[in-house]
Order: sequence, then structure tokens, then C-alpha cells
Amino acid sequence: MFGKKKQKPQIDQEQFALIENAQRRIKQKKVLYTHFVIFLIGAIFLILANTILGIGKDFKIFGLDWFVIAVSVWLFFFLYHAFNVFITNKFMGKDWEKAQIEKLVAKQQDKIAALKSTIIMPELETTTTTKPHKNLTMIVAAGENNEIGKDNDLIWHLRDDLKHFKALTSGHHIIMGRKTFESFPKPLPNRTHVVISRQKNYQIPAGVLLVNSLEDAIDAASSDSQPFIIGGGEIYKQAMPFASKIELTRVHSTFDADTFFPKINMKEWKETASKVNDKDEHHNHAFSFITYERS
Ligand SMILES: NC(=O)c1ccc[n+]([C@@H]2O[C@H](COP(=O)([O-])OP(=O)(O)OC[C@H]3O[C@@H](n4cnc5c(N)ncnc54)[C@H](OP(=O)(O)O)[C@@H]3O)[C@@H](O)[C@H]2O)c1
Repeated sequence: MFGKKKQKPQIDQEQFALIENAQRRIKQKKVLYTHFVIFLIGAIFLILANTILGIGKDFKIFGLDWFVIAVSVWLFFFLYHAFNVFITNKFMGKDWEKAQIEKLVAKQQDKIAALKSTIIMPELETTTTTKPHKNLTMIVAAGENNEIGKDNDLIWHLRDDLKHFKALTSGHHIIMGRKTFESFPKPLPNRTHVVISRQKNYQIPAGVLLVNSLEDAIDAASSDSQPFIIGGGEIYKQAMPFASKIELTRVHSTFDADTFFPKINMKEWKETASKVNDKDEHHNHAFSFITYERS
């Protein structure tokens, strides 16, 4: 209906290069042949000019007739020309140059690849390959040695820290490990609980979401613009690469503990806010609210 496509003559790049090279060689040989003919005619003319016409009959160079020197010099240039055509251009022409360049480039590429594997790749390996989720925040209270709990319970009671936790998390999804969930007497009001457990039949109260992996927990909270990871130790450790913010209450004491918060790598995080709270009648320990964001 639309007619046949007009066939174009097809010629690949390799054939094209071969044709170009052949044309170049033919041209070089033609020029050399012309040079040879001119040289022959010229040499005969010079010889006749001296011997028959007597031009410069008495002019000698190093005891030789001038035409002998002139023809010898010309012969030298002709031989040099022939050498260029048959030796230099044949073996060290454009193809030879191209091959040399390709060899050098290949060598450089090998060197770059080796450098990448020794320098760049380990660097990539140490940085997290998991992409942090926008606004996913870990909220935690930890002692000076990152202690967070013992016997599945908290190790301190800090009234203002509980208020701080309530103020930040109210109205949002709170993601937690099964053990942390069990440490609560009952679900916290005004928050959507997402509990992570490998147990498929784990019994949970109505309204609480049960998931079997951290990734599923983050998905379950995807409608929330500000979901929180609230612990405990196992979940904090796994969630660290996914989080983009940490709200840490640093309790300025050391404690006997069996559960810990992972070390914050200051190459990946920067402190963006900090507020110190002194010890008082409601608080047995001084503590600071510190915010970290990914640097
Ligand atoms: N100071 C704080 O801010 C703070 C905050 C929260 C908790 N805590 C303390 O931390 C302690 C609890 O922490 P924890 O480390 O023992 O336990 P956890 O992290 O709360 O929960 C661990 C449980 O989570 C489930 N789980 C973990 N990784 C999973 C995965 N990849 N896929 C599916 N399920 C997974 C498993 O449940 P199953 O065994 O059911 O499979 C596992 O036993 C308590 O002492 C608590 O008081 C402190």
C-alpha cells in the first residue's frame, strides 16, 4: 500500500576503510611513477645539456661533472620518495598510527579499570546501596554507650522525653519490632502501629498492622508523610540505611543494658539541631534532644 522502500547500496565501515586505503596507495604509487618518468627525462636532459650542448662543460664539483652530481642528488630524492611509498607509508601509514592509538587507548582503559576496582569500588561498597526513604525517621533514647534497653524494657524514666516522643509521633505510623511491641502494656493512642515479626500467625489487637519484613513495614506506612521507626535494637540496626533522619534523646549517663542503638556514622550524618535538658526533680539524668540528618 505504501510502496517498497528504495534499496540503498550498503557498504560497511570496514570495507569503506579498505577502499580508502587502496585509493591512497594507488595515488602514492602514481605520484612515484610520475616522479620516476620526470627523473628519467630530467636526467637525460641534464646529461645531454652537458655532453652535447656543452652547458657548464668546465664546471666541476669535487672533480666530477656537475650533471653527475645533479643526477645523483635527484636520484637520492627519488629513492627517498620510493622508500616512503613502499616502506614508511606501507608499514607506518595511517593504519599503523590507528593501531598504535588503539593499543595505547586499550592500555589506558585497562589501567583505569584496575584503578576503579582498587579505589572506587571499595568506596562504593562502604556507602549504603540502599536508598534512604524521604522523611523516614528513627526515634530513640540512648545512653552515652548507645544503651537502649534491658530485659525487654526501658532503663530510665524521663518524663519530658516521653512527652517529646508523644509530640513527634502522634498521628503517624510507628514501625517496631515484635519485642518492642510486647514491651508496651497496650498500644499507644493516636498512632498506627506497624509490628514486624517473622511469625505469620502472631496475634495482634485490632487496628495494629502485622508485617513480615522491614521493607513491608515501610510500604505499609507509605501513605504517611512522616513515618517513624521506634525500635528496638534489631529493627534500628536494619533500618539505619533506610532512614533519612534520627531524633535521638542522648541520656547523659551510662547503663547496664542488653540492647543497643547502632553507632551513628558521622561521615553519613550531620547534626542539625540540639537542645540540652538538665537533671531535675522529674529527671534523674541530664539529656539532650539531638536531630541528625543525612549529610
Ligand atoms: N530506648 C529506646 O528508645 C527504645 C526504643 C524501642 C525499644 N527499646 C528497647 O529495645 C529492646 C527491644 O529490642 P530488640 O532488639 O530486643 O527487639 P525488637 O527489635 O523490638 O524486635 C525484634 C523482633 O522483630 C522481629 N524482626 C526483626 N527483624 C525482622 C525481619 N527482618 N523480618 C521480620 N521480623 C523481624 C522478630 O520478631 P519475631 O521473633 O516475632 O519473628 C524479632 O524477634 C527492649 O529492651 C526495649 O525496651 C528501647
